[in-house]
Amino acid sequence: MNKLFNHKKIGILGGGQLGRMLLQKAMDFALEVYVLDPDKSAPCKSITSNIVNGDFKNYEDVYHFGKKLDLITIEIENVNVEALKKLQQEGKEVYPQPEIIEMIQDKGLQKIFYQTHGIPTADFFLVENKQQIEKYLDYLPFFQKTRKGGYDGKGVRKIVAKQHLSNAFDEPCVLERMVDVAKEISVIVARNVAGEIQTFPLVESVFNPQAHLVDFLICPASVSKKIQEEAENLARKIAEQLNLVGLLAIEYFLTKDGKLLVNEMAPRVHNSGHHTIEACVTSQFEQHWRSILNLPLGDTSLVRPAVMVNLLGSEGFEGEAHYVGIEQILKYSGVYPHLYGKKKVKAYRKMGHITVTDKTLSSAMQKARKIKELIKVTAL
Ligand SMILES: Nc1ncnc2c1ncn2[C@@H]1O[C@H](COP(=O)(O)OP(=O)(O)O)[C@@H](O)[C@H]1O
Ligand SMILES: [Mg+2]
Repeated sequence: MNKLFNHKKIGILGGGQLGRMLLQKAMDFALEVYVLDPDKSAPCKSITSNIVNGDFKNYEDVYHFGKKLDLITIEIENVNVEALKKLQQEGKEVYPQPEIIEMIQDKGLQKIFYQTHGIPTADFFLVENKQQIEKYLDYLPFFQKTRKGGYDGKGVRKIVAKQHLSNAFDEPCVLERMVDVAKEISVIVARNVAGEIQTFPLVESVFNPQAHLVDFLICPASVSKKIQEEAENLARKIAEQLNLVGLLAIEYFLTKDGKLLVNEMAPRVHNSGHHTIEACVTSQFEQHWRSILNLPLGDTSLVRPAVMVNLLGSEGFEGEAHYVGIEQILKYSGVYPHLYGKKKVKAYRKMGHITVTDKTLSSAMQKARKIKELIKVTAL
């Protein structure tokens, strides 16, 4: 079954915006790609007819989808791992490997992985339910994180005092000591089948001081050379220890006393790598294909500084999406809108992103602040 890279039938579990951007790049490599998604209006739907309606969390759906293919990959980690294991046993290539997806699906297993491999991470305890939290009250304040299913802050609660316990999650969770965070940074690492490894330049999250929401992702991150090297080396070490094939996005905390701690990771293309389409020699989407098809990995150098602005549905709007300000932002040079083609908008839904580039990071940042004011997604 040693087919040429572009003679393989490839499947992606998930047809969201990440899948859509993977497909856009797949076209340049003339890849034959199929997508599995339960949503009849998923972002991939409008750009391919190779879309299979089914649930990537369901064993039968994943198994039957994968059975007809040579290589299966993901754009979301919340997928049925048992079916992927079965497909792998039957000779299919599955990248990233099911065991890696399985570990990452569970924040508790992620923490145990960091601990057993000497990877710095915030101190933690594992609890099965709310009642067990009582044992750890001496260690307040902490972040409570559901072991499974959380994303974009939805499975995370801050518990500062005993009285906050009333709204704690009552399910298996990680209790993580609160870290004095100076910066949140991330790095994407790729490893191909042959074991070649490449990291992308570090990205920094810039938070809105009032809402503590990420306003911008900037690249390069403003951290010392030493921190940069430490983050890259840790990413390489993790990729090697996992025997990873594919991409891994790693989020770090840089503490106020200069320590780098791993927060969490995702085994796929990632929001923090969107700028790589315009700002790096090779994009994360191309790198994903290169790694899982065992092609030489691409040069990840940053060509120009970039700021990524998420385009979220405006508060108070729900209905058919309407983009206000597109004409104005297109008057600027180095501004690249990516609309995900989602028909319906609601408050805070990720509708697209805009990459803003310029000669320097500070001029890109200035421009990005203007762009963020000009563009809104409302409803008709
Ligand atoms: N131990 C911690 N100390 C301080 N801040 C934290 C800690 N854990 C999480 N956070 C904050 O909460 C955010 C979301 O947590 P994270 O574990 O990354 O969950 P999600 O899967 O939703 O991204 C982080 O980006 C960070 O701002
Ligand atoms: Mg996170």
